[in-house]
Amino acid sequence: MLVLGAGPAGLVLGNILVDRGIDCVILERAERAHVQTRARAGFLAANTVRILERHGLAEGLHRHGQTHSTCEFRTEDGRFRLDYSGLGQGERHTVYPQQDLVTDLLTRFLERGGQIRFGTEAVTVRGADSERPEVAVREADERPGLWRARYVAGCDGRHGAARRSLPAGTVRHHRDHGVTWLGLLAEAPPSLDAVGYAVHAQGFAGHMARTSEITRYYLQWERGIPADAWSEEQIWHELELRMRATEYGPLRRGPLVQRAVVDLESDVLEPLRHGALFLVGDAAGLISPSAAKGANLAVLEAAILAPALVDDLTTGNSAGLDSYSARCLTHIWRAQEFSHWMIGLLHGPSGTDGESGFHNSLRRSRLTSLRTSRSHQDWFAEHYVGV
Ligand code: APR
Repeated sequence: MLVLGAGPAGLVLGNILVDRGIDCVILERAERAHVQTRARAGFLAANTVRILERHGLAEGLHRHGQTHSTCEFRTEDGRFRLDYSGLGQGERHTVYPQQDLVTDLLTRFLERGGQIRFGTEAVTVRGADSERPEVAVREADERPGLWRARYVAGCDGRHGAARRSLPAGTVRHHRDHGVTWLGLLAEAPPSLDAVGYAVHAQGFAGHMARTSEITRYYLQWERGIPADAWSEEQIWHELELRMRATEYGPLRRGPLVQRAVVDLESDVLEPLRHGALFLVGDAAGLISPSAAKGANLAVLEAAILAPALVDDLTTGNSAGLDSYSARCLTHIWRAQEFSHWMIGLLHGPSGTDGESGFHNSLRRSRLTSLRTSRSHQDWFAEHYVGV
């Protein structure tokens, strides 16, 4: 079995396979240090934690992660909080930086006897419609190579080789949400004990704790403007303005150690299986970060694919592989629907379409409903923390 990419998708898949005695090699383009330090997401849904527990992969997140169950909305009509552990299914998030989870998964995979080839970039997957597909690779020293296996799992993200190798006719449903965020990592303790969503005439601002020393912030950003266009002082000033710090308390400032411009986009590929090639995680579909679903979907898909591969490779029962694509797409579209709804909740219209007044009033009404209607809050909680 060949797995392309050592992100959450590839590493969860690899761990389950190796644990069940399947011979599995992960080909990873980056070097190990890079994979283990790349700061990305950090909110794990309750179901993600259950999957990781079931496969013996949750020790680190239980030891060092923090459970979290409150979000706060700050709007022109005041602020309100939702404690979602008392709503919907009563579930919580675990906040655990993705690079720490990836480090745990990697360590466990190697302990279980899995093999990873770092610095090995998959270039293309060939012969997916055969019993022996091959993956052409480029090693760190530019040497070409070739790997063969019974199955290939494309867990190599949005720009990976799996996506480039799909047959003509693969459908890609794509949406550009027309909104851009500046994602920031601040070396500063969290400023509030909740995820903060600020809806402001100047645009959205977000606050998400990562650890007691690191906090993620987001600023809605003008498309095309580079990440370094503003000074740190300008950024903190804008965050404080949109988060209404004068009313609700100051932000705890610190050096901004990472900045990235993110155009909010989504896509879903259909189907997720092409013969012997399976798409998992970001390779299968991109989801906007508005509801922090990306890593959770990646883990869920890997956990659906792994037992299906084990069944096929050990007993010849291919039913699980046959239904993989349809099962995952049901979850993916539900997550897409909720993320899309969140974008509408948090942002004004993206262009001067002449309907901004209408759009803003809808958004305000959506927030009022969320503030006042218990059944709406239950619906929100179920989708917000679930995958
Ligand atoms: N060959 C080998 N490895 C590759 C290649 C390639 N051609 N292209 C990319 N990779 C590696 C990347 O270096 C990375 O380690 O594949 C891995 C993909 O990992 P992620 O991008 O984290 O994707 P995934 O595992 O699907 O996790 C999905 O986590 O943080 C979220 O936003 C993130 O939604 C995403 C989610």
